[in-house]
Amino acid sequence: MKVFIVGSGGREHAIAWAVAKSGRAEKIYCAPGNAGIAEYAECVDIGAMEFEKLVTFAKENQVDLTIIGMDDPLVGGVVDAFEAEGLRVFGPRKNAAIIEGSKTFSKDLMKKYHIPTAAYENFDSKEEALAYLETVKFPVVLKADGLALGKGVLICNTMEEAVAGVKTIMEDKKFGDAGNRMVIEEFMTGREVSVLAFCDGKTIKCMTSAQDHKRAGDGDTGLNTGGMGTFSPSPFYTKEVEAFCEKYIYQPTIDAMAAEGRPFTGILFTGLMLTADGPKVLEYNARFGDPEAQVVLPRMKNDILEVMEACIDGRLSEVDLQFEDNAAVCVVLASEGYPVSYEKGFVISGLENFKEKEGYYCFHAGTRQTEKGIVTNGGRVLGVTAKGADLKEARRNAYAATEWVSFENKYKRNDIGKAIDEA
Ligand code: AMP
Ligand code: GLY
Repeated sequence: MKVFIVGSGGREHAIAWAVAKSGRAEKIYCAPGNAGIAEYAECVDIGAMEFEKLVTFAKENQVDLTIIGMDDPLVGGVVDAFEAEGLRVFGPRKNAAIIEGSKTFSKDLMKKYHIPTAAYENFDSKEEALAYLETVKFPVVLKADGLALGKGVLICNTMEEAVAGVKTIMEDKKFGDAGNRMVIEEFMTGREVSVLAFCDGKTIKCMTSAQDHKRAGDGDTGLNTGGMGTFSPSPFYTKEVEAFCEKYIYQPTIDAMAAEGRPFTGILFTGLMLTADGPKVLEYNARFGDPEAQVVLPRMKNDILEVMEACIDGRLSEVDLQFEDNAAVCVVLASEGYPVSYEKGFVISGLENFKEKEGYYCFHAGTRQTEKGIVTNGGRVLGVTAKGADLKEARRNAYAATEWVSFENKYKRNDIGKAIDEA
């Protein structure tokens, strides 16, 4: 079959790797792709938001299955555009991707269906939001309603910070139209866990758990990023926690979406906080996490194309989803200065060290092929993943492998997976 992947980051590289491994794809295309994805796929110069061009490309090249990796096109309705032309596509429709695209929608959904989450109120006026702040306990969490590249969440310790935050979101429109509405919610404490799941509209099957590291600096300091590294599985996501989440969070979410006339097909990513009062939902995403995919997919035993097709055809209940009984750690190699400002265009050396090294992967996030060779082309450049018999071994292996590649201004966190020691 011919498979078309939409996206250009480390997550899409991991998806392309899994599709290539399946052996069922005689041809893989990726738009726009990157230098690492090009190893498995023919990269085509179409942007992820150019729906008409994507659909035309899929038709002209007799693509059998298109996989959407990124949030923006999903929230914008790319799946509906493909389906309108009778094309097979993996991902939620626009009316279901709203679970990620609108935080006020997802909070109201959880409230209506009694799914555990932080207490909150939604606002569409600055005045009402400011008045509400008089009634809250600090710290408090402010969230822009729409997509904001993972930056629309502000944790405010004082009234001054919160007042400034409301203005940043609703008056200065720092996150654009994403800030037309906002959520103000209770601050929660606990361990964070990411759980990705395949869904076919009725059935949900969870993958192995993972934990991200969102802050730029060691010890969870500095600004929020797309994610600086991950480990899988999370030792804090015990069998008991999993059983609670299956009963009170995952299946209720899929049932709620179906009951609302918004059946969810694709990947549901639940961001959880394991609080003293039990697991609660931080947020939903409508796609694989990045860099969660880079630790979860290498551990998956199933053929990804078979699972995705089962989702599209509504027969996920027949799939026995299985993961290896080991662990994986991904350390992101970024450009110094990310997520604010950084230089790109530096030649990357040592990539060949990963060739055919069992259990080691170098997923490209921001890279580009040039006449000089492969160069850095983004804030997050590479995701170095290694597997191990357990988390400690995987972490040692991943950090050793980060030394195999070099480029000017290479930056990484040195404490990815430190939490493992506290388990
Ligand atoms: P989100 O995009 O909603 O996942 O938020 C980004 C990050 O902000 C999360 O990974 C948490 O670390 C933090 N966060 C979000 N909501 C809360 C909350 N209610 N309490 C504490 N931390 C939060
Ligand atoms: N790593 C978090 C995300 O993909 O949203």
